[in-house]
Amino acid sequence: MPGPWPLTATRDDAGVLHLGGVAVTDLATDHGTPLWVVDEDDLRERCRRYREGFPGAEVAYAAKAWSAIGILQIVDEEGLLIDVVSGGEIHAAVVAGVDPARLVFHGNNKSCAELEQAVDVGVGRIVVDSFEELERLEQVAAARDRTVPIWLRITPGIDAHTHEYVRTGHDDSKFGFTLSLGLADEAVVAARELMHVELVGLHSHIGSQIFGTDPFVANAEVMLELIARCRDEYGVELAELNLGGGMGIRYTHEDHPVDVARYGKAVVEVVEETCEKYGLPVPRLVVEPGRAIVGPSTVTLYEVGTVKRLPGLTTYVSVDGGMSDNIRPALYDAEHEVALVNRAEDGERQPMTVVGKHCESGDLVREHAPLPADLRAGDLVAVAATGAYSDSMASNYNRLPRPAAVLVRDGAVRELVRRETVDDLLRRDVPLR
Ligand SMILES: Cc1ncc(COP(=O)(O)O)c(C=O)c1O
Repeated sequence: MPGPWPLTATRDDAGVLHLGGVAVTDLATDHGTPLWVVDEDDLRERCRRYREGFPGAEVAYAAKAWSAIGILQIVDEEGLLIDVVSGGEIHAAVVAGVDPARLVFHGNNKSCAELEQAVDVGVGRIVVDSFEELERLEQVAAARDRTVPIWLRITPGIDAHTHEYVRTGHDDSKFGFTLSLGLADEAVVAARELMHVELVGLHSHIGSQIFGTDPFVANAEVMLELIARCRDEYGVELAELNLGGGMGIRYTHEDHPVDVARYGKAVVEVVEETCEKYGLPVPRLVVEPGRAIVGPSTVTLYEVGTVKRLPGLTTYVSVDGGMSDNIRPALYDAEHEVALVNRAEDGERQPMTVVGKHCESGDLVREHAPLPADLRAGDLVAVAATGAYSDSMASNYNRLPRPAAVLVRDGAVRELVRRETVDDLLRRDVPLR
């Protein structure tokens, strides 16, 4: 089965999809739909492959992809650092029991309260994104008589040729210190002068859902050249380099991401060669995948509610969730593979447009999915590779409760995220009478 499906995905003789040794029909009966089903073996295996693919380097999981406490605990158990981008994500990681020293704190507009929280809990590295933040952090650390280790986020001028909304390494970006404008050099010099921040390394992240190794290799070269210049021109030795995340994953059979072993080899080799060229010691290397760790481990189960066949036009299959539990198709034109999973296919496939139940025409799950012609209300469909940026970007649009998530492994099921109730939906409202 695999392709874009989790590693343990199989079908039984009746055509029912099993994940982690559990039939999805049983999951739907016991936990309802929509349901995120996480294949624990898949998730752990991807953590391990990253660690093996980058020998000698640290792998930080980008929690923005999915910061459910159980996910953070698994990733932590697998020995990954955790990258967080808000006070809320720091809190989730601390509640998950992650050692704060293993957290890396990002964000282009961290508030003073978030910086204070990060310093107070002892976050391992703060990735400073702007001159204002450098000043703010200096004040926060000085007030506590602490010295805080930091990385600077550099905008390296690498265009990763991915969707506009997930490009971050090109010059005209809201993130980081733009190298080509001299801001990176200026930030290094400014950080050197401060008493309560200690500049120990650099960070860059060029974008997401990138398929080749070339942009990552180019990024490593640019960043090491900067590290060499910091030593030669400013007398600043930088022993740590975080090259970000962004490797693409397989959402459909048409996607062909680079295997992590090849990606790791290409990056580690270019780092070693470039260090040799500049006479630099090889830095403590960090990579920061999010999607590639948690994305492929998960499928979303939906129940089909209506099938509207418009002769000569489109067949619309409406499911019981949509853009509130997966905004990616609406936001990025993302495509996910969809399959019938509660029975064997009977008859030919036809292109069908799977849509959600929200009051938006853009509420798409997948356009033109090849699905069996006899698809009908009550069938279950699964959407592949929905572990990353689904729950973490989910909303309550149209007052839909967010789905539950379960973890499956060796025939056992554990609840990971409770399904929201209609009472949960009202808990922020303050009635006027
Ligand atoms: C700074 C940083 N690191 C890592 C990531 C993870 O990217 P991906 O999930 O594509 O690996 C992101 C994604 O936005 C990011 O902004």
